[in-house]
Amino acid sequence: MTTHNVLVLPGDGIGPEIVDQGIKVLKAFEQKLDVRFHLEYAPIGGAGIESDGVPLPQNTMKLAQEMKVVYLGAVGDYKYDTLDPAIRPEQGLLQIRKALGLYANLRPVKAYRCLLHASTLKPEVVDGIDMMVVRELTGGLYFGQPKKREAKRALDTMTYEDFEIERIARQAFEIARKRRKQVCSVDKANVLSTSQFWRDIVETVAKDYPDVALSHMYVDNAAMQLVRNPKQFDVLLTENTFGDILSDEASMLTGSLGMLASASLGDDRYAMYEPSHGSAPKYAGLDKVNPIATIISLQLMLAYSFGYAEEAQLIETAINQVLEAGYRTYDIADTGSTVIGTSEMGDRIAKALLALPSAHSNKIASA
Ligand code: IPM
Ligand code: MG
Repeated sequence: MTTHNVLVLPGDGIGPEIVDQGIKVLKAFEQKLDVRFHLEYAPIGGAGIESDGVPLPQNTMKLAQEMKVVYLGAVGDYKYDTLDPAIRPEQGLLQIRKALGLYANLRPVKAYRCLLHASTLKPEVVDGIDMMVVRELTGGLYFGQPKKREAKRALDTMTYEDFEIERIARQAFEIARKRRKQVCSVDKANVLSTSQFWRDIVETVAKDYPDVALSHMYVDNAAMQLVRNPKQFDVLLTENTFGDILSDEASMLTGSLGMLASASLGDDRYAMYEPSHGSAPKYAGLDKVNPIATIISLQLMLAYSFGYAEEAQLIETAINQVLEAGYRTYDIADTGSTVIGTSEMGDRIAKALLALPSAHSNKIASA
């Protein structure tokens, strides 16, 4: 029987409880297919500060390097707000992304029919949204040097090397090829030289993808177009900071940040899967928050890291069934729906997955 390795980093706040729901679904997936996942758990973020005094303990990093595939909850807690920024929980996340070379962050944004009411936008604007935000994750303002704070000034540096832009652009074009073949590259080329450089390199890469239509959009306009006419976007290619901001905005189109999953990919099979939202410490332990972004992140892991794209699609079907039956966490609740907690949502999705005919037997049946 095939065994795959996954390092689980629950992290802080709601992290552990949402990851638990993903693991329930993973167990259901194991039962459906002839496959086993070997899981190791390790601390990161505030949990790392508690156990080892640092947000990314050495042993966590060592396990990540060995196991290659990481499933993460969330990091951060108010109680660390007064710490030196260099050792705050968020640094654990940034350091592991950088150390594993996870430069490509994919955030799929899809409208669920039964959740159209949950959006603050009109249903007709939202219905049919299907875009992929491709965010550069290891460069730009987040990591550029120098970065410092002095008594009377502070400094961050926005910097990009040619190869960093080229490889993320290639990812975006490759992904677009499997979708509606449109890439919209976001920049601020009317002001920033990194953006002018970005635009030139994206143009050059585009020559290798004549079948994909490329457009460019200034980031301020992109923020506006996302709420004006979001359906125009297929693949949205962005640098690190712009992608952080625009992906939060895009997630709300579909109703809740609690639905936005993400995959961070590097070379040589290194990958990390995590919801795009934070650790929401005020909801920690209340069994209240939406675990669906974490469960969709698991689906992305099964598809991208382990090659179960078709079988993992069943997870999406299971999620849809549970939502269509009217079960909602508070963030996506509607007047007619039944509000349930984090754990029950995980149980229901896992149960729905088990009850579905497997992709394999579908294939046999239709052959
Ligand atoms: C995200 C988060 C992180 C980021 C934070 C927690 C450092 O907002 O994954 O979008 O800014 O990348
Ligand atoms: Mg963010």
